[in-house]
Amino acid sequence: MKVGILTAGGDCPGLNAVIRAASRKLLNDGHEPVGLLRGFEGLADRDFMPLGRREVAGTIQLGGTILSTSSYNPFREPNGVEKVKSAVADEGFDAIIAIGGEHTMMMTRRLHEDEGIPTIGVPKTIDNDVTGTDFTFGFNTAVQTAVFAIDRLHTTAQSHNRVMILEVMGRNTGWIALFAAIAGGADGVLIPEVDLTVEELSESIKQRHAKGFNFSIIVVAEGAELAFASGEKRQVLATEATDQYGYPRLGGIGAALGEELERSTGFETRVTVLGHVQRGGTPTAYDRLLATEYGIKAAELAIAGEHGRMAALRGTQVVSVPLSDVTGVKTVDLHYLEIARTFFG
Ligand code: F6P
Repeated sequence: MKVGILTAGGDCPGLNAVIRAASRKLLNDGHEPVGLLRGFEGLADRDFMPLGRREVAGTIQLGGTILSTSSYNPFREPNGVEKVKSAVADEGFDAIIAIGGEHTMMMTRRLHEDEGIPTIGVPKTIDNDVTGTDFTFGFNTAVQTAVFAIDRLHTTAQSHNRVMILEVMGRNTGWIALFAAIAGGADGVLIPEVDLTVEELSESIKQRHAKGFNFSIIVVAEGAELAFASGEKRQVLATEATDQYGYPRLGGIGAALGEELERSTGFETRVTVLGHVQRGGTPTAYDRLLATEYGIKAAELAIAGEHGRMAALRGTQVVSVPLSDVTGVKTVDLHYLEIARTFFG
């Protein structure tokens, strides 16, 4: 069997671990894995690389993707779908494993359902916002990076009696913010899923300081809105321009919140934006394991001829689910907010 493997959308730690695991499983069983460069663009333009033992060796610990990635969408490109279909037929691909986020999974499903292309999905993203799976790989690494940052902010916050704000990614969900807040021992968190006004947050910080704690760490998700007791709400954007998917380019809520909190609490405040640092670098051991399981499951699906499916984590098991299980954005489980709140104020 000849199986194409591609990575699409934004990168995240663990992509190479999936490529490596799927390739090794396919090779072990006598099949031929082929890397498709720059996502679906590499399939449409027939830009390939071999994925033999040598090519995937020593990649489990590498962040990014050895295949490069892009947001190429065959449904939006001139003759994109035709190019993809003829590449699959002419080159003799028996299956295409697409590793990507929500958009890639939707595209992968459509290519299977509407165009008959034998696709299989693997969900990735640091945001953990893909429905159909409990956790995506890449998320654990991003949270770990955010927690390292909080640990460092703690010592300097304490020394200067300051309020420290850490802005993290997550797009329109608060998964990274909430998990990092709990694991880092933060004193407040602002996420897109729940309205918390500047006045409420400021009151909670003042209460904490009145109890003799002279510093506070606040984690804010980039997609959270600045909300006020008056009912006014403001979404802060990095720029008016949208990204390649038409999403607003988020960023800047940390600085806006910092100004408001400094004014309302009277405490000196500093802001750190973690940015793409949380998307790069070495995957954690957990993400390497999860990515490896995903890769092997995807290869097994390819070998079994089970197309239109996605490898997914349900509880502690990596299982096969229909790509149609990916429907919209998975918002944060608010049970974790209850846990975080135990330590605020
Ligand atoms: O989806 C992953 C993510 O890192 C989001 O958390 C963030 O909002 C976005 O991508 C940033 O995208 P870009 O790399 O295009 O700036």
